[in-house]
Amino acid sequence: MQPTVYLVDDDNHLRKAMTQTLELAGLAVTPFASAAEALKTLDANFDGVVVSDIRMPGIDGLAFFRRIEAFDADLPVILVTGHGDIPMAVQALQDGVYDFIPKPFAADRLVQSVHRALEKRRLVMENRALKRAAETAGDNLPLIGQTPVMERLRQTIRHIADTDVDVLVAGETGSGKEVVATLLHNWSRRRNGNFVALNCGALPETVIESELFGHEQGAFTGALKKRIGRIEHASGGTLFLDEIEAMPPATQVKMLRVLEAREITPLGTNQVRPVDIRVIAAAKIDLGDPAQRGDFREDLYFRLNVVTLSIPPLRERRDDIPLLFSHFLTRAAERFKRDAPVVTSAVQRHLMTHAWPGNVRELSHFAERVALGVEGPLGQPIAPAEQSGFALPERLERYEAEILKEVLRAQRGDVKATIEALGIPRKTFYDKLQRHGINRADYAERAAPEKAGR
Ligand SMILES: Nc1ncnc2c1ncn2[C@@H]1O[C@H](COP(=O)(O)OP(=O)(O)OP(=O)(O)O)[C@@H](O)[C@H]1O
Ligand SMILES: [Mg+2]
Repeated sequence: MQPTVYLVDDDNHLRKAMTQTLELAGLAVTPFASAAEALKTLDANFDGVVVSDIRMPGIDGLAFFRRIEAFDADLPVILVTGHGDIPMAVQALQDGVYDFIPKPFAADRLVQSVHRALEKRRLVMENRALKRAAETAGDNLPLIGQTPVMERLRQTIRHIADTDVDVLVAGETGSGKEVVATLLHNWSRRRNGNFVALNCGALPETVIESELFGHEQGAFTGALKKRIGRIEHASGGTLFLDEIEAMPPATQVKMLRVLEAREITPLGTNQVRPVDIRVIAAAKIDLGDPAQRGDFREDLYFRLNVVTLSIPPLRERRDDIPLLFSHFLTRAAERFKRDAPVVTSAVQRHLMTHAWPGNVRELSHFAERVALGVEGPLGQPIAPAEQSGFALPERLERYEAEILKEVLRAQRGDVKATIEALGIPRKTFYDKLQRHGINRADYAERAAPEKAGR
């Protein structure tokens, strides 16, 4: 199917004339009399481009552009501007509008701009498809496990990924909740949209609502700039609410409303904005159990519990341990550019007897230490240098780097907390990061780029 030009103009004559111009040039056009109408069917999967008038009642051209930019900053928008609007249009160009065409204009000018925009869009869509193919082909985020319970889990994910049903993922720490959430996103038609993760436990109560819902400039002290909330940012994609059990009670009420009405009201506005999101929530506790649930609202639990995917702890699927371990060991050896070491009987024993309270994450860290030859406390002496391939200073260096990374990971990239946990001066900390080539930002709480937050 040919990519479409969405043409938005409230003026019937102009709309008809422009439609004709574009159709004569062999382009497929869908005309709309208002931006609101066009927005109903636009999402990040749209492979065409948008041409819109600036001055329109309701959502004007610039607001229209911002709405589009919020779910796909790479969707070209061409604005058609009247006489007095040139300064505004120039500003819009700087903000990312693809092109603007001052009225009156020659048919050619419009057609050429649309052709270039379509070509740009085609490249963006192709790149995204390639990236996706590489991700599914490579073992970027596989959900490893051959126990019946894991086979079933994969099957269920495949089955429900492409439905829009909200999902609750339950499992202990490190059991793979985020892996499951990411697969649900990647295997759905929302994969071109954003996967926006928000850790409800990591944000102070005062921040979480403005993060989620966004705010207007001046909505509260300190709201210097308008900000698009994470929910809106996830529109067209997936919103991942991690540690949902830690969501403050007041926010729970608002979240319930979002889940039911699929719309948000940014702080400091009374605008209601529709959002097209799929919500995946993750919990470490059994929210179905009133004793564990505490002040988590039962109605929100019921609303989230349409589908619950439970990931059993590693100790309840021990048969997956060897497979996971060998995967992590190979990966670590590749990363550290070493041959994968022979797995000693002490390591084997540890694999089969340890309880793995940190689940898959703990297992993967263990594999890294084994690959580095720094795993000692197994009732076994540390492997000698000729076996591990490292002399002592090198081992210490690598061990230090591992500790730095582990603490950064645990503190989610928070510099202050990491320095405190390590007990070293700030300068030493930064020197060490530089020496080991560690980028703190890689460990910061993951969020989608805040590009749309302007
Ligand atoms: N089945 C699996 N196959 C391969 N890797 C896995 C699997 N399960 C988990 N992992 C890996 O283990 C680590 C922890 O997984 P993840 O972050 O998804 O856990 P989590 O349940 O979200 O943990 P937390 O509750 O602490 O946030 C990640 O590095 C992930 O890639
Ligand atoms: Mg997680």
